[in-house]
Amino acid sequence: MPKKEDYLNILSDAPLNEPERQHYFIGLAQKYFERQVIINNRKLTACITTFGCQMNARDSEKLSGILTAIGFKIIEDEAADFVLYNTCTVRDHANQRVYGRLGKINHLKKKNPHMKVALCGCMMQEDAVIDKIKANYRFVDLIFGTHNIFKFAELLLLMYSADEMVIDIWQDTNQIVEDLPVERKYPFKSGINIMFGCNNFCTYCIVPYVRGRERSRPALDIITEIKRLVADGVIEIMLLGQNVNSYGLTDSVNFPVLLREIEKIKGLKRIRFMTSHPKDLSDELIKVMKESDKICRHLHLPLQAGSTRILKLMNRGYTKEDYLKLVAKIRAAMPDIAITTDIIVGFPGETKADFAETIDVVKQVKFDNAFTFIYSKRTGTPAAALSQVPLEEAKANFDQLLKIIKETAQHQIGHLVGETHPVLVEEKNSHDQEMLSGRLSNNTMVHFKGELDLIGTIVKVKLIEAKGFYYLGVM
Ligand code: 5AD
Ligand code: SF4
Repeated sequence: MPKKEDYLNILSDAPLNEPERQHYFIGLAQKYFERQVIINNRKLTACITTFGCQMNARDSEKLSGILTAIGFKIIEDEAADFVLYNTCTVRDHANQRVYGRLGKINHLKKKNPHMKVALCGCMMQEDAVIDKIKANYRFVDLIFGTHNIFKFAELLLLMYSADEMVIDIWQDTNQIVEDLPVERKYPFKSGINIMFGCNNFCTYCIVPYVRGRERSRPALDIITEIKRLVADGVIEIMLLGQNVNSYGLTDSVNFPVLLREIEKIKGLKRIRFMTSHPKDLSDELIKVMKESDKICRHLHLPLQAGSTRILKLMNRGYTKEDYLKLVAKIRAAMPDIAITTDIIVGFPGETKADFAETIDVVKQVKFDNAFTFIYSKRTGTPAAALSQVPLEEAKANFDQLLKIIKETAQHQIGHLVGETHPVLVEEKNSHDQEMLSGRLSNNTMVHFKGELDLIGTIVKVKLIEAKGFYYLGVM
C-alpha cells in the first residue's frame, strides 16, 4: 500500500479534471492491489451492504464497479478485507441498523486488524452522525457522503495510506461525474440516474438536506448511457430520481420529452421510472405513457396522507381531492395501470379524523401495493418541532392501515387472473428451486415453473392465482 510520504507525490501527479482524476487513482490502486495478490496469494475481498432506496442501490453498483476494477473480489460475507456500508437516514430505524452492524463488525476487526471499514451515503451527511462515529466507533477507517461518491477510488487509496480515520463530506455540489466503472446486479436490467437531489422540502423529509438541490443530467448523456447499457444486454431500465416529474424543468427537455427520446432506442424493451410526485405529474406524461408500448403500466405515486389538512402541514402541494382526481385521470387513460404508493402514519398532529381520510383514499383508490411507514422524527426538518403523536396510537393505526391495504391490493391484483401476460424473468425463486420469479409490465411479481436459462428474457405466463401482492402462473 502507498506510504503516507508517497501519497503526497501521488496527489501532485493526479489530473485535476474528472473523471480522468479517478481513472488515474483506479490505475494506481490496481498496481497496489496486484502486489497484494502476490503477497497474500489471493485477491482481497470486499463486502458492500446497502440500506435504503433504489438510488442507493444504484450508487452501490458504482462502488462495486470501482472495487472490481481495482482488483477486489466482491463477496456477501462481512468477514471481508474491506467492508462498506452505504447508509440511509430517511427513517431512524435505518440509522439504528447501521449502528447495530458496526457493533458486530468491531469484533470481526479485532480478529483481523488488516480489515478496513468504510461508511458512505445519506446518513453521513448529518453532523450528529459524524460526531457519534468519531466518539464511539473509532475503528471506522473511511467516511464519505452522497456528493463525492465518484471520488471513491481516490479516497480508498488515501485510506490505505493513512493511519487515522479519513473523513470527506461535502455540503453540496453541482458536479455530476460520469463514465466510471459500474458493476450491475442484474445483466438484463439497470437503474439509471436522471436527476439528483430534491427541492420539495416536504416537512417530514430529510432527503433535501442530505442529497442537496435538484440537478438534472443532460438528456444526451442519459440517452448515451442507455444505448451503452442496451448494447451490453440490458432490456429494462428504471429511470431514477427523487421526483422524476420535475426532470429538466429549467431546460427545454422535460420528462415526457425525455421518455419519448428513450423509447426510440432499439433493443430496449421496458422503461420504468420512480418516484413521481403527484403535484408535478402532467397530462403530457399520461399521454406519453398511454401511447407507449415500452413504458411499463405502473406508477409509484406517493400519497403520504389522505387528509388535506395533514398534506398541507406536510407541504405536499396537493389536496385529497387533487390526488383522487389525478388517479381517476390516469386510470381513465390506462385502465390496466397499477398504482402503488407510500403512506406515513402518525405525522405530528394527525387526529383520528385525519387518519380516517387516509383510510378513505386507500379504499377508494385500491392501490396495487402500498409502503407504509410510521412517522419518524428527523432532526433539522420542520415537522420535528411539532408535537408528536403517541407511538402506541400510531402503531394501532399502522396495523389497521396495513390490513386494509392487503384487502384492497388482493382485490385489485385479482383482476388479471386467467389472463396471459408478458413477464420479464428475473431470478430463481428463493423458496422453491424449480420456480422462477419475474415481473409483469405493471410491476407485480409472478412465480412460475421454468428453466434457469429463461432468466433475463420476456416470456408469456398465464396468471392462475392471485396471492396477496403476487401471482402464481404457468408459462
Ligand atoms: N418518517 C416516515 N416516513 C418517511 N418517509 C420519508 N421521510 C419519512 C419520515 N420522516 C417515507 C415517505 C417517502 C418514503 C421514501 O419514505 O413515505 O415517500
Ligand atoms: Fe422527501 Fe418530499 Fe423530496 Fe420525496 S419529494 S424526497 S418525500 S422532500
